[in-house]
Parts: sequence; structure tokens; C-alpha cells
Amino acid sequence: MSSIDRRDFLTRGGLALGAVLLTVELPLLKPDAAAASAVKLDTWESIRGQFALSPNLIHMSGFFLASHPASVREAIEQHRRNLDADPIGYWYEQEEKQETAVLRAAADYLAVDPFEIALTDSTTMGLGLLYGGLRIRKDQEILTTIHDHYSTETSLRLRAERTGATVRQIPLYKSLKSVTRNELVDTLVQHVRPQTRVIAVTWVHSSTGLKLPIHGMAEAIAKINRTRSEQDRVIFCVDGVHALGVEDFRLGEVGCDFLIAGTHKWMFGPRGTGLIWGHKRAWPVAQATIPTFNTEAYGIWMKMTPPKGLPMSASMTPGGFHSFEHRWALDEAFKFHQAIGKTRITQRINELNQQLKQGLVKMSHVALHTPLSQDLSAGIVCFEVAGLSARQVVERLRTQSIIGSVTPYAAQYARLAPGLLNSTEEIETVLKAIQNLRS
Ligand SMILES: Cc1ncc(COP(=O)(O)O)c(C=O)c1O
Repeated sequence: MSSIDRRDFLTRGGLALGAVLLTVELPLLKPDAAAASAVKLDTWESIRGQFALSPNLIHMSGFFLASHPASVREAIEQHRRNLDADPIGYWYEQEEKQETAVLRAAADYLAVDPFEIALTDSTTMGLGLLYGGLRIRKDQEILTTIHDHYSTETSLRLRAERTGATVRQIPLYKSLKSVTRNELVDTLVQHVRPQTRVIAVTWVHSSTGLKLPIHGMAEAIAKINRTRSEQDRVIFCVDGVHALGVEDFRLGEVGCDFLIAGTHKWMFGPRGTGLIWGHKRAWPVAQATIPTFNTEAYGIWMKMTPPKGLPMSASMTPGGFHSFEHRWALDEAFKFHQAIGKTRITQRINELNQQLKQGLVKMSHVALHTPLSQDLSAGIVCFEVAGLSARQVVERLRTQSIIGSVTPYAAQYARLAPGLLNSTEEIETVLKAIQNLRS
């Protein structure tokens, strides 16, 4: 019996509530849309064909908010119909089963234990919950960077305002033109002080497209931790939303303590889904703020189950009812990626991004900000066009049916994100359009 099966067993044994209420046999529509693996996903055209995206547009902002592939759409629809037919009955029948399926699929994809995963509604919810609750002593500090997204920076600011925690922001590099792996790792390490308890960074910056050498950083932090006690160990937290579904990694081997990500961007998961993964050794540092609706926790509260330690990942999965038709369809997104193949996905995204960057770097009126090397970049390309604001660039491209975005940061760049929704021909069209952009 796997650990998650055991939890199922214990929970079902301890809590008869669901069984008592489920007196009526429901004519359930089985959520059998799992057939991602049965659908032919052998060509990029067939993969693109799984999405209901407008065929008239070149979607270069797929990372912003997911369009759902067919298997995810169908699972959502089936759950929705069943919830509409009998909300309480379907919920009692399915809640544990579906959440377990989601945790298993996520754990399988990430190559970690399902018990290490908390489910959230977005990257922002994960960041807010984790950074808002981490146990830090008054004499300890949080080290972060000036490159992080609004959601990391604001979560940390709110934490500091509420608790007086010290948050220190640093730049990680001097210039994107000359930035190297070593510079990024060394700069981070040089800024670690004896009182640094938490490091909060972003794997792929949505401001510039820069990808941090997270593994190298984790190794350097591990060296620092060798001489520290458990109470003073540096906890390495990563906003991984633009790496998840792009980079080919086994999470347990990355070396960070926490990874926070929405699953409704590159993963193509249902909108309004996300996760926090924490290493077993790190979870005790977390502290929940929103009561979980985990069955065991509820059972303990109702004095139906003996009080015993609940996995922190379960406590950190916020309760309250959710848009369950979306949450329960998330396993389909992980299966969809697995069916295509993680390595194949990374290679494809790399190739398309290389094609775009190699074309842009040759244009005299374009300043490419994202590093050319895939070692320091992933799926996001940021650039400026001489004489035009970022907004003007994005608007002009839109008139040619090319959908980009402006970086939502103090420094605004035009941003394109070639991904699985795109073809090499589309990248050529985009390059031609940018070539012809003049002020
Ligand atoms: C780096 C980064 N982190 C967090 C977020 C917020 O993600 P979510 O919408 O899942 O909260 C974004 C973009 O929206 C982002 O670019």
C-alpha cells in the first residue's frame, strides 16, 4: 500500500461522514477523459489540435493563462455536470478520490512523494501562504532579489509589515548582456549572512526571461548549510511557475526546499490551480494560515479521529470549497505533458526560443534583453524596438494577429513566449513582422 493509499484507507476508516450522507446511488458521469495518452500526440500539429485556440491568431502568450487541452476541458465538463446534478452527493463521492488522483499525477510528473505537495489556486496564493507563514526568528532575515515578480515581493512586504520580519533585496547581476551562471551563484552566496534563514527567488524571470541556475544555487546553499544547525539552515524557496512545464527536471534533484507554481500557465492545467511542493525536511518550517478542509483534519476537529500529526502539505492546502470541476481536472494536465514527454517538450520550447532570439539579435533596431544561451533562458523572450514603447510594439503586433504582452514591471519590455502552441512557421512570421516595425 503506497503512503497515499494508506492515507486513503485511514481517512475512510476514520470518517464515516461521507458514507452516511451518500445514501443515494448517483448515476455518475465517470470522469474518463484521461485519455490524453490514447490521443495521438506524435506531431506538434496534433498537439496544437488539442486546444480550442483561435486559429486566426499567433498565440505567443500561452504562458500567461492556460488554454485547456481537450482532455482537461472534457474532465472539467464532466465534473461540472455531475456537481450541477448533485453537488453534495458528487462531492462526497469524489472529493478524496479526485484529490488523490491529482496529487498522484503531480507527484509522478515531478518525481516526488504526493505527501510533499499542497494544492493551491495560483502561484500567488502559494507564495502568499508560504512566505506569510514561514517560521522565522526575530534575529533572522529573508534574502530576496530585485528581479522577482510582484507576487513574491508583495508577499514578503506584507509579511514584513505584519511581523516586523527583515527582508533584504539584492541584485543578482550587473548586466544581462554579460551575466553568467557563476556570477548569479556567486552573487547570491556572497550576500548570505549568518542570520539569513530564507532565500526567495524566481527560477525564470518574467521581467527579462533570465533563467537562474537553480541547481547550482541550491548546491552552493547546501555547502553553507553544512556548518549550520537545523534551526539556522538556509531554506531555499523558488517561484517555479515559468519552469514548470518548460524545464525537464525531477524536483527532488533540484535541491531547493520549496517550489511554488501555478499549474494554469505552461502546464495547461485548469485555470485557478497551483501547488506548493516542499521537501520533507523543509515542511516543518511552514505554518498554515487558512484552515484546511483535509478530511483527517476535519475528523480530528470533530473528535472522530484520534489527534495525530497531519502532513504539513495537507495543512497547507487551503480549505473552503473550491471550483472543484477545475481542481479535479488537474491530473489531466500532468498526464497530457507526460504523454507528450518532458524532454521532448523542453527541446521543442528551446528550439522555438532559439529561432526567435537568433532572428531578433540580428535586427539593428531591436535590443534583445533575454540571454541567447538556453542555459540562462527558458521560454520567455523580452526585447525593445527602437523608437517604440513596449505597449506600441505589442499593439502593432496584435494588429497582425500576433499576441504578445508587456512585462508588468517597472522596466517594460515587449514579451513573446514561444511554446507548444507555436510552429517554426509562426516564429518566421513573427520575425518578419518585427523586422518591419519602425517608429
Ligand atoms: C514569476 C511569476 N510569478 C507569479 C506570477 C503569478 O502567477 P499566478 O497567476 O499563478 O498567481 C506570475 C505571472 O502572473 C509570474 O510571472
